[in-house]
Amino acid sequence: MIRAALWLFVGVASLVLVCVCAEENAQDERDVPPGVNHADHLENDSTGAQILSVVIRGVADRKKFEEIRKEIYLDVLTTSKWAVDILVQKSSLDYTKHLLKSADLEFKVLIEDIQKQMEAENPPESKESLSRSSLRGHGLTFDRYHSVDTMYQYMEYLNRTYSDFVKLEDIGTTAEGRTLRVLYISSGQPNRKAIWIDGGIHAREWVASAAVLWVLSELTEKRERLPEEMRELDFVVMPMVNPDGYEYTRARRSTRLWRKNRAPVSSACAGVDVNRNFEHGWGGHGTSGEACRDTYRGPRPASERETQAIVNYAAKNIPKIQGFLTFHCYGQYILYPWGYDKILPEDHADLQRVGEIAAQRIKEVGDVNYTVGSSANLLYPAAGGSDDWAKSKGVKYAYTVELRGPGYPGGLNSFFLPPEQIIPSGRDAFEIVRTVAEAIVLQPS
Ligand SMILES: *[C@@H]1O[C@H](CO)[C@@H](O)[C@H](O)[C@H]1NC(C)=O
Ligand SMILES: *[C@@H]1O[C@H](CO)[C@@H](O)[C@H](O)[C@H]1NC(C)=O
Ligand SMILES: *[C@@H]1O[C@H](CO)[C@@H](O)[C@H](O)[C@H]1NC(C)=O
Repeated sequence: MIRAALWLFVGVASLVLVCVCAEENAQDERDVPPGVNHADHLENDSTGAQILSVVIRGVADRKKFEEIRKEIYLDVLTTSKWAVDILVQKSSLDYTKHLLKSADLEFKVLIEDIQKQMEAENPPESKESLSRSSLRGHGLTFDRYHSVDTMYQYMEYLNRTYSDFVKLEDIGTTAEGRTLRVLYISSGQPNRKAIWIDGGIHAREWVASAAVLWVLSELTEKRERLPEEMRELDFVVMPMVNPDGYEYTRARRSTRLWRKNRAPVSSACAGVDVNRNFEHGWGGHGTSGEACRDTYRGPRPASERETQAIVNYAAKNIPKIQGFLTFHCYGQYILYPWGYDKILPEDHADLQRVGEIAAQRIKEVGDVNYTVGSSANLLYPAAGGSDDWAKSKGVKYAYTVELRGPGYPGGLNSFFLPPEQIIPSGRDAFEIVRTVAEAIVLQPS
């Protein structure tokens, strides 16, 4: 009798649990309608396909948007408090715009024609530039986006040329056998403090890696011009966190918007979202347990080689690492933890203050606005990100930075940032690095 009652209790309790979980999932995956492989955004020919940014002025607009979503499939690329950006194929463009207008939802066209944008994105390399590169000993330039091989060639060049303060380290291998590399820049100071800088964790965010490489060139080739506080710090720079995914986005136009790595996780789909794979808060809001989704968190925390490489290397260097800057695009945000939920760390006022100083400097240098705040509050809660992990390990200044587009003067872009914006984006990134360096050096410890 008692046993029967106990089983009944367990039964009811687990039913309740199942309901709670189902509800959580429904909410977390609300960006992803059932049955759609969200990771395949583009067709072979994307002529006339557009990216629209739908303005969300409040709860009423969000509701209207969700209503439209019940009617037709909308491919959501990113979401923030103020807008939802969607990719619309040419065939459904008229109807989608009609629905948005009928619902009285305002929208901007971020990309007029995806195919054209992709063609403009990477002009062919000139003979002149190729011959210059053989003179220099590497092929990296900042007027186009480059292959992983060229990025690594540049890192090898720096390792050779600045061997007195630079050290190239291989910290892992990807599923497809590519090396994961960091460049350690040493200040030669006793009692060293360091800043971690990475880019390219999401394959399609090309400018993130390009901007980090620009910062890297400033930290090495222009070292004598660096402000004092930056010469007092060490830097660990990993320009390319997800080389497999990046090469996949370069391989053909239909895969340009791939986001994850290329780990063979299921028979139907490849890839884990490395920025949902870190341990802190793993499996929570804004992540998916389904392998075909763009935000698939992986089978367990730190299941991915990219995650493991960062965790093993960075953990060895904490508490020396006091700044952790991970670069993404787009939207012009300086974001700090927590990302996994709408709660703030104890020292959030420091993170807000330093973020605002950086934003102010970027405005002076580059005439663009960056918005500062916690990721969960400004964008959406997303668990398992690398900045949350760093913060949870005690790194004070942990930031995720969303670089340019849309919002720079004259610019309405998204993941397809024209190459002329690489150096300006690099300058934005540099101001953030400089400001965090200053905060670390000046802070009493
Ligand atoms: C897209 O291109 C690939 C490779 O060129 C080809 O195998 C595939 O059949 C094409 N798909 C469509 C729908 O045309
Ligand atoms: C980096 O440079 C050192 C010499 O300073 C060399 O021994 C090492 O092999 C280089 N590493 C790579 C990966 O090229
Ligand atoms: C930046 O924000 C200011 C005030 O918030 C505004 O006046 C200005 O036009 C914005 N600049 C750009 C480039 O959006």
